[in-house]
Amino acid sequence: MTVRLRAARADDQAFLLTALFHAAHANEEPGVLPGHLLGNPALARYVVGFGGPGDLGVVALRGDAPVGAAWVRLLVGAERGYGWVDDDTPELAIAVLPEAVNTGVGTAMLTELLARARERFSGVSLSVRTDNPARRLYVRLGFEPVAQATNRVGGMSETMWLRFPRG
Ligand SMILES: CC(C)(COP(=O)(O)OP(=O)(O)OC[C@H]1O[C@@H](n2cnc3c(N)ncnc32)[C@H](O)[C@@H]1OP(=O)(O)O)[C@@H](O)C(=O)NCCC(=O)NCCS
Repeated sequence: MTVRLRAARADDQAFLLTALFHAAHANEEPGVLPGHLLGNPALARYVVGFGGPGDLGVVALRGDAPVGAAWVRLLVGAERGYGWVDDDTPELAIAVLPEAVNTGVGTAMLTELLARARERFSGVSLSVRTDNPARRLYVRLGFEPVAQATNRVGGMSETMWLRFPRG
């Protein structure tokens, strides 16, 4: 799918919530809508207030319509996310809309995001279910598991970390 990438902005929060809805597989739960995630602090923290100094993201547009987003946030202290590794490493969230899955959009977004993140951070971490095919994409782009997979609601999840070489 041909898309255009641009930097994610504070006014993208509604779309980031939709992307998070897919990334967290909340779309598989009957009756759950993206807005419901705002009532879950462990998920809402990936989106609410996006646009601050620890935030970086890209949005993929088809025409003028967003079809995917990939972003990182520095989530530390009590705001730690599922993929926390240390207080210097932001966590990744990524999803494309169902009609754009497996069309190269995710690879394009993540490659661009990592190129930008490399200029600001020492690495990027994430949490992924071990049975999520997205894991292959992460491995291809250099992420490595950092700990034993743990059992969470919805199945086994693992933390992965891409450390940028110091240059
Ligand atoms: C993960 C995701 C962003 C990748 O974007 P994409 O545009 O589908 O990916 P690309 O076409 O660029 O690359 C293909 C890779 O995407 C991943 N992928 C493909 N279909 C997928 C699916 N239904 N679910 C999750 N990942 C998928 C695989 O790693 C695949 O690599 P493979 O060909 O070796 O299996 C996208 O598939 C998605 O939004 N999936 C649902 C939400 C999700 O699981 N997000 C990640 C949470 S940790």
